[in-house]
Amino acid sequence: TFQPLVFSGVQPTGNLHLGNYLGAIRKFVALQDNNDCIYCVVDLHAITAQLVHDDLRNQIRSIAAAFIASGIDPVKHIVFNQSAVPQHAELAWIFNCVARIGWMNRMTQFKDKAGKDRENASLGLLAYPSLMAADILVYRATHVPVGDDQKQHLELARDIAQKFNIDFQQKIRETGTGVDMVVGEEPIHGYFPLVEPLIEGPAPRVMSLKDGTKKMSKSDPSDLSRINLMDDADTILKKIRKAKTDPDSLPSEVEGLKGRPEAENLVGIYAALADRTKDDVLQEFGGQQFSAFKPALADLAVHVLSPITEEMRRLMGDTTHIDAILRDGGERARARAEKVMAEVFDIIGF
Ligand code: ADP
Ligand code: NA
Repeated sequence: TFQPLVFSGVQPTGNLHLGNYLGAIRKFVALQDNNDCIYCVVDLHAITAQLVHDDLRNQIRSIAAAFIASGIDPVKHIVFNQSAVPQHAELAWIFNCVARIGWMNRMTQFKDKAGKDRENASLGLLAYPSLMAADILVYRATHVPVGDDQKQHLELARDIAQKFNIDFQQKIRETGTGVDMVVGEEPIHGYFPLVEPLIEGPAPRVMSLKDGTKKMSKSDPSDLSRINLMDDADTILKKIRKAKTDPDSLPSEVEGLKGRPEAENLVGIYAALADRTKDDVLQEFGGQQFSAFKPALADLAVHVLSPITEEMRRLMGDTTHIDAILRDGGERARARAEKVMAEVFDIIGF
């Protein structure tokens, strides 16, 4: 079997928001106590939807700063940026030859981001999930904490690993690089693990506060309701006070949230921030109005986020420390990725 290894990444494409924190970074922090973890600033992904960025280098640093400020230990684990390890792009090329165009065309994120003019989207945007599979599998990582929006991409990563394992089954045996694994009921000898997504939790998909039907996202500049990690206490309070809600009071059980997406979203955010279940939160707030719940939620959000914001500001004040962490993490990541790529080249026959 494979050694358990956690991998995940965040794009340096603008302000981190509450969705990134609850769907991803907070989980990264929780997982590091009992696992070997690699956390990556995926800068190669950042140029897929938009090629030219202002100040990309500082964007990269600020994601790394958010990791560190949130409590990730870059000595015990690895924090680095993707472009520092060329093996990600190398394995992605191989996966481009494993994956089928039809698989990529079905990805909902590609359809969303490419919009109507699909012929004019970058080839990189289409191949995004192939690079994402390479990010994970170049370390043969087994577990990937992500938000719910990434579920389809992780299924594709499993499909790519599976096809590689089957297509090269004989070569994997001959080179003695593989592992006995069971896929469904089927015992096979494979090289790449079929990754497990870690999506669960009370807020796997944080929705916009403007409208509970769209996810909170970096890439919608018109959505001023988004809570950013760098927002000050006043701004957070204002945004939560303005959040769209229905006129009813809060239910005392989760079933009562059905058909009330805005209420469900706010309760989920509260639960995730407090590390409690939604039921537990509703036991406390059931029967109360949003006029009472919202200030409690804002207080909690400020309590959790403000120390992170402050530490991010401090880290970004002198970037030598962050740069040293990224350099060291890059070297350690590269050493691991080189070993895997040497085996992959052996399997392919290069
Ligand atoms: P974004 O989607 O904001 O551009 P990324 O693509 O870099 O950000 O995603 C970084 C991580 O944040 C991923 O694990 C993604 O699933 C998670 N994430 C992004 N938006 C949300 C959201 N609204 N709710 C929960 N998790 C999210
Ligand atoms: Na995303």
